[in-house]
Amino acid sequence: MRPRLTFLGTGYLGATYAICFAELGYEVLGVDVDEAKIAMLSEGQVPFHEPGLDELLRKNLASGKLRFSTSYEEAAQFGDVHFICVGTPQRADGMAADLSYVESAVTKLAPHLTRKALIVGKSTVPVGTAEWIEQLVRRHAPADAGVEVAWSPEFLQEGFAVEDVLRPNRIIVGVKSEWANAMLYAAHKGVFDLAVTEDREVPVVVTDFATAELVKVAANAFLATKISFINAMAEVCEAAGADVTLLARAIGYDPRIGNKFLRAGVGFGGGCLPKDIRAFQARAQEIGAGEALRFLHEVDLINQRRRQRVVQLAAELLGRPYGPAGPDLSGVRMAVLGAAFKPNSDDVRDSPALSVVRKLARSGAQVTVYDPEGMENAKRDFSDVSYAKAMTEAVTGAELVCVLTEWEEFRNADPQALGELVAGRRVIDGRNCLDPSVWIAAGWEYRGMGRPVTP
Ligand code: UDX
Repeated sequence: MRPRLTFLGTGYLGATYAICFAELGYEVLGVDVDEAKIAMLSEGQVPFHEPGLDELLRKNLASGKLRFSTSYEEAAQFGDVHFICVGTPQRADGMAADLSYVESAVTKLAPHLTRKALIVGKSTVPVGTAEWIEQLVRRHAPADAGVEVAWSPEFLQEGFAVEDVLRPNRIIVGVKSEWANAMLYAAHKGVFDLAVTEDREVPVVVTDFATAELVKVAANAFLATKISFINAMAEVCEAAGADVTLLARAIGYDPRIGNKFLRAGVGFGGGCLPKDIRAFQARAQEIGAGEALRFLHEVDLINQRRRQRVVQLAAELLGRPYGPAGPDLSGVRMAVLGAAFKPNSDDVRDSPALSVVRKLARSGAQVTVYDPEGMENAKRDFSDVSYAKAMTEAVTGAELVCVLTEWEEFRNADPQALGELVAGRRVIDGRNCLDPSVWIAAGWEYRGMGRPVTP
């Protein structure tokens, strides 16, 4: 028999999981304290931009497999397996993760659990959280219910979330009992069945709690390190007059290195990598392993320096002085193309593009921003600049164009046509996503990240 599933927290993670697991054939209840979000989802609207998800939401609402609710009591009555999918943001007072939403989800659910159920953590958390949740459950759930805890981190990437949930490249199962193992297997049977029909296999790694928790932060730390490694090489290339895009291509052919996540540019952002590497360092410090992760501080610094590099390049291209207080860009009209932290997403959390926009605006530049999907979120985050409705509107009259998110629309832009609209043909390619030769041939002064200056 298939267990009934609840997903507690219907943000990016929980909503995507709830919808996709209904698609896999499970009966699913998505739960959130945010009434507006639950109302939207119940009406068939996904509150964020994720390709393919709207369609699956409507289909599974219609089939009756998927419902949403704000009631934890209902969740407890309905579910056999409860996945914790709430956010774990960086704490306002430091680098560590804020676990208050996790605590609240567990303490709201536990008192209503009247039969045996499994609570499974998916949120990214500091190591030791699963043990702590076990204690919370012991304190708040009826003693005779026999509620158990397990940990199964997720690895979904925004923009590919549906695919990552339906066809994960691995499943991690952190359990303490055979029963929990069997329940988690049953809760993922749909994923395994789909794989079989497609002649694929989904590897499963069964671990203890601590390892399962660490798998997630270790994976994100590795990805962040890979990006900062190539961005460090970009800095060296800038000093040496070399080209980091060719360097990345050349080292990436070695299968031990691989060519993925080696794109130099303005660095990583988003709701995961930046906060996860900070929380990981904070937790390591607490458990006496701070030294081991000291390099992650460097990874963060390299990442921050790349954002400042765009400002330096802007001053250089415009012939503006760069003093101790930064450059004076007052009165310069600039277009920034991109606000989302990566393409095919409307997410602007810790977005390198928006962080550069802030820096440019602070230096006195008159910035106009355009992003195909991220405008609403960007406006909410930073309203002190102009927002254009189209790329052409943004660049009209600009003395400098900065491409900071590699949307297809920007990659395919015609430099000749844009050249007719701007006041000065200067472009900073913050994602190394344009073909310099084409732009230079169209009369643009081009600057990439870690690429040589071609006259
Ligand atoms: C990441 C992890 O990939 C995912 O497994 C985890 O579950 C959540 O965190 P996500 O935040 O969606 O996913 O974005 P990702 O695609 O990893 O990109 C993160 C940032 O790195 C983006 O700002 C992106 O532009 C940047 N990036 C990525 C680079 O600068 N260079 C690269 O080569 C790759």
